[in-house]
Amino acid sequence: MEALFAGGFPEFISGDKEVDKYIARVRESFREYDLILTDEDDQLAATGWGVPIMWSGDVSELPSTFADVLRQSIEVHDAFSAADTFVIGGAVVHPSLKGSGAAESLIRALCDTAAAHHLTNVVAPVRPTRKHLYPLLDIDAYAAWVRNDGTPWDPWLRLHVRIGGSVIGLAREAQTMTDTVSRWEEWTGLEIPVSGDYIIPKGMAPLRIDKTADLGTYVEPNIWVRHR
Ligand SMILES: CC(C)(COP(=O)(O)OP(=O)(O)OC[C@H]1O[C@@H](n2cnc3c(N)ncnc32)[C@H](O)[C@@H]1OP(=O)(O)O)[C@@H](O)C(=O)NCCC(=O)NCCS
Repeated sequence: MEALFAGGFPEFISGDKEVDKYIARVRESFREYDLILTDEDDQLAATGWGVPIMWSGDVSELPSTFADVLRQSIEVHDAFSAADTFVIGGAVVHPSLKGSGAAESLIRALCDTAAAHHLTNVVAPVRPTRKHLYPLLDIDAYAAWVRNDGTPWDPWLRLHVRIGGSVIGLAREAQTMTDTVSRWEEWTGLEIPVSGDYIIPKGMAPLRIDKTADLGTYVEPNIWVRHR
């Protein structure tokens, strides 16, 4: 599961310092929500996970960041409170099986897992997979972009919608990745000579560099989808 996730995302995904605070606790506390799908030869086909939180159903009360999702799940866990909402945290299909329908099976299986745990609501902060091709377009315009058939232009968002999800909101600053300039050079393969904004490989938005502070900051958006 870890290896598939590591291969599915750009290296800079590890730069969210807020997520770092909670991810180990989440991993150990919610193993029952980790899913692994295998193919007919028993090989790893897809994997996904999520966490339970409490949510009023009001879109304005959704967690504003991915780290906040994790923090809330730990709070619910530690307080022994009854959660009512499953938040899909991640999904990856094995590279050799992309386009095979495994992604759809995985989302459906995650929704079924939520139901099995009596979590009435299922939401996902979707990380749009083609946003990096349009790093200068704001997320409002990107999320609203539809094909001629009226379905979302982004393929991953489209899949969520095709199987019954509705776009309910945006997390404009879902993840903030920060690190030194040299670490950003490693992550992006770019030389970064001066302060300024840079388009980076696989970046959904520009990276802002402050050479004086030796700091690179990159903020990426998610699109909230509700499945149930
Ligand atoms: C996101 C991911 C799980 C989707 O799996 P997948 O097997 O590619 O999904 P599907 O084949 O069902 O594709 C869904 C849609 O995207 C389209 N699509 C797939 N690859 C595409 C590509 N390279 N370019 C354009 N469209 C593509 C499919 O045609 C389908 O569109 P349709 O609605 O017109 O049929 C998979 O790409 C992945 O593991 N990515 C890396 C990790 C990641 O980004 N996860 C999501 C955030 S947690």
